[in-house]
Amino acid sequence: MTTEPSAPDEEERAALRDRISADSLTTRRDYLRIVATVSGGLVVGSTVVAAGVLSRHGDGSAPPLKVADALTPGQAVAFGYPGEDDRALAVKLADGTVVGYSAICTHLACGVLWQQDRGTEGELHCPCHEGVFDVRTGEVTAGPPPRPLPKVIMVEDAQGAVWAIGTARSGESERSGLCRGLRASDPALAGAAGCRADEGAS
Ligand code: FES
Repeated sequence: MTTEPSAPDEEERAALRDRISADSLTTRRDYLRIVATVSGGLVVGSTVVAAGVLSRHGDGSAPPLKVADALTPGQAVAFGYPGEDDRALAVKLADGTVVGYSAICTHLACGVLWQQDRGTEGELHCPCHEGVFDVRTGEVTAGPPPRPLPKVIMVEDAQGAVWAIGTARSGESERSGLCRGLRASDPALAGAAGCRADEGAS
């Protein structure tokens, strides 16, 4: 099941930043969701950093993109990220975790589809040559794809809206990808977020 992404605008992003900055409860919840979503959990120590994670360019070039007002467990959404033509998808798992990936198969670039009724918690399936990827990790579990799916780093805001905020390369952790993006867009923020000097280095 998919829903159409909505195009972000500066007013919407500004409203999100304002909500985070103005409401300590909201900030706390956003922060927790960021930490829960990004593998390993960045050491984010201030409201400024939490707001920055959502407002900075995730990979140094792409602004955060709101991909859905909300997702229910088992629901997926297709979108373009970091560019409009970069096919990607996000899935909300049964435990509430939101994961995001490039939807371009690492074998021969067919489109990868979400199949909720396959595997133990659903699978990412490429119908061209029966490639299968683990929905929780992006790792290849069957078929000819040679590499895991590159990740799109997702967060939910306090209202449940789902955002893409950065990317990680195939086989790279979300934390490393996010640190690489922060380092490219704002090295000071990367340091404040607890990224080590060697983390996310290109
Ligand atoms: S293109 Fe996806 S398995 Fe071949």
